[in-house]
Amino acid sequence: MKKNFPNIRLRRLRNNSPIRNLIRENILSPHDLIQPIFIIEGKNKTEKIKSMPGILRMSIDVAIKEIKLLKKLGIQGVALFPSIEKKYKNNAGTESFNEDGLMQRAIRSIKKTISNVAIISDIALDPYTDHGQDGILGNNKQILNDETIEVLVKQSLSHAECGVDIIAPSDMMDGRIRAIRKSLEKNKFFDTKILSYSAKYSSNFYGPFRDAVGSVKNLGESNKDTYQMDFSNKKDAVREVEMDISEGADIIMVKPGLPYLDIVSKINDKFNIPIFIYQVSGEYAMIKAAAKNKCLDEKKAVLETLICMKRSGANAIITYYAKDVLQWMK
Ligand code: PBG
Repeated sequence: MKKNFPNIRLRRLRNNSPIRNLIRENILSPHDLIQPIFIIEGKNKTEKIKSMPGILRMSIDVAIKEIKLLKKLGIQGVALFPSIEKKYKNNAGTESFNEDGLMQRAIRSIKKTISNVAIISDIALDPYTDHGQDGILGNNKQILNDETIEVLVKQSLSHAECGVDIIAPSDMMDGRIRAIRKSLEKNKFFDTKILSYSAKYSSNFYGPFRDAVGSVKNLGESNKDTYQMDFSNKKDAVREVEMDISEGADIIMVKPGLPYLDIVSKINDKFNIPIFIYQVSGEYAMIKAAAKNKCLDEKKAVLETLICMKRSGANAIITYYAKDVLQWMK
């Protein structure tokens, strides 16, 4: 083998900041960020979430003020998640398609007052079921796939009717994208976009979120292993994405974020479709805790994780840090 050194000195391109800036391959922009927002009933109400310092549940009026502020900072999208009162929960999550439900009212009021921010709504039953699962439970405690799809279709349609820009099925039932797309078409919602959580893993990093939407107690000792993917697998993710694209997804999501960038990279190589990543609640809580204990520089560490996500092939990132990052960028 011929020796390259000293003909090639890779450090030559690292030795001052203008050169590093000029050759940089990936940058983070405000256009890349989506902020999750937890919605509760009430007026002028906020609640702290113990496991997610800095994040609040908020009533619709407060959320509208927050989204207006985020828009001034340059946000492109917000992802809405409801925390539903216990009395509305049942096995089939029927409150999910109540046309006067919390989410439906939230979407309508936000769309009425705010333009040019993509409103994304979660499609899944876990905030609405009394057992905390994303689907309907059968007699043997199995999750009923096809029966669940029927409810998801109703939920999707009810959000579309309220004018949501993007619906985001996060439930991992087989075949739901086709059923949802079919019903959107049939009802002439040609422009409602589907962001499919295609590669969603049964992860231990969702704990704080389950606390935020109030499903953690109901879920108890049970888990979501029979529908969310096994984190030991990669091929399964490719099949999920393949299937969702063929069923009519517009954008696909990989979730969680940082430990799953090999999946993003693989999907980015294989498919011509936009990819979003979800930096999930446990990832947020982890960085917060480390920063609080002065183990790392919060701002620098967060920006690094987000750039790494872009490097892996993500077009946009859902992150609880979106607002902070927008403020840091100002
Ligand atoms: C549920 C849903 C979850 C998240 C988004 N939608 C949790 C779960 O699957 O249990 C997790 C988001 C996060 O942890 O930040 N449909």
